[in-house]
Amino acid sequence: MAVIAEKCSDIKVTVLDIDENKISLWNSNDLSLLPVYEPGLKEIICKVRNLNLFFSTDIENVIAESDVVFISVNTPTKTKGLGAGYASDLKWVESSTRTVAKFAKEHTIVVEKSTLPVRTAELIKKILEESDLANIDNNKKSFSVLSNPEFLAEGTAIEDLRKPDRVLIGGEDQKALNILSSIYENWIPKEKVLKTNLWSSELSKLTANAFLAQRISSVNSISALCESTGADINEVAMAVGLDKRIGDKFLKAGPGFGGSCFQKDILNLVYICRSYGLDEVADYWESVVKINNWQRRRISSKVVENLFGTVTGKKIAILGFSFKANTNDTRESSSIFISQDLIENGAILSIHDPKVSEKQIKNIMQNNPLITEFSEGSWEYQTNMYNAIESSDAIIVLTEWEEYSKIDWQECYKIMRKPAWVFDTRNIVNKVKILKEGINYWGVGDGN
Ligand code: UGA
Repeated sequence: MAVIAEKCSDIKVTVLDIDENKISLWNSNDLSLLPVYEPGLKEIICKVRNLNLFFSTDIENVIAESDVVFISVNTPTKTKGLGAGYASDLKWVESSTRTVAKFAKEHTIVVEKSTLPVRTAELIKKILEESDLANIDNNKKSFSVLSNPEFLAEGTAIEDLRKPDRVLIGGEDQKALNILSSIYENWIPKEKVLKTNLWSSELSKLTANAFLAQRISSVNSISALCESTGADINEVAMAVGLDKRIGDKFLKAGPGFGGSCFQKDILNLVYICRSYGLDEVADYWESVVKINNWQRRRISSKVVENLFGTVTGKKIAILGFSFKANTNDTRESSSIFISQDLIENGAILSIHDPKVSEKQIKNIMQNNPLITEFSEGSWEYQTNMYNAIESSDAIIVLTEWEEYSKIDWQECYKIMRKPAWVFDTRNIVNKVKILKEGINYWGVGDGN
């Protein structure tokens, strides 16, 4: 919404939330308090906030005066009830739709921006149509439903929005399609705005994420084979990616994909396939998540094995807690799962991340049923990376923050307990320098 406001000065954009605290942070003069860290976002907020970008909790009036409403609420995996563990929980989508149905006036275009299971628009339409009928006497309330999934990635969100590969809009109402498309055409070439039917648009979003995640699981599975055979995953990925049909993006081996989307969307896809009786298709996609979980477990096992089969009472520096660099988002971060494994094995973790706060980590650890006061291991937070490394037996690089590629290995050797180890799950550190200092090294997919 910030980028729409930036690019379309004649459009008034209001971001609504029921959470007053969040809205007050978005309105705060202290820009360091914005609830989301995203490179370039602060600058846009600075430029357009209170000009044509507003943050508000006045849901009733803002919906009433809007021509277009984007439903952009979260759709987490259900933890209870039918479809638990797989299906997306649509309760926020449903309640937002009911709110729009209640307060909208005249004709309103309702846009699905959240990632949704295919055919959710049916549910949205039904709710809106019912309210339409209920108001038949006194007003001209009517709705058009469009699907407009978002393909931005965290950390590069602003760039992705300014120069997207494509914008996808699904719907049946040509007029509504053209209105939404004309908003994007303020800064995106017309040929990049793809119009499809509703169901193709909804399904394309899940499929795009499934394909991206599948590439990561593919490369991670081969990383294990590289380690066993003397091959090097970076070389293999480069050789494979140079084939134009395959392409070189999303072929970096790592500790397994994290983030709020990939796992959730694949599990949802699996659920949808099963509900249509397509068990083989469901099994195929589910294996992408299985490999991801296996990669995480494989890495924590490598650490334990190399530290003489036990990490009990050993200090281990965890470098990086966000699910990737340039974001403070920790949702489904592989760091969480690997840390949990090591704590269960008795390790004392010293966690560092340039953007993730101690409060965030505390929240995660406290809500993790596998980490209790009875756990053998423990964790602490360090704002200074070298304090985290001091007296440790091992360093595990889990997020590809740039500063981790510039670590002073001579200094590390001095302050670590020997034999010292570095486990690089992102292939970003300087192996030659590490080995030269006398530190042991393990890199994901590095079979040399
Ligand atoms: C992902 C998609 O990339 C976006 O296109 C999509 O819009 C978004 O989900 C969404 O559905 O909202 P995001 O989760 O922000 O974006 O992050 P990615 O850059 O896709 O990274 C996901 C995970 O894969 C990270 O843990 C990252 O470290 C890992 N990854 C990525 C690898 O391990 N190797 C790679 O080569 C690329």
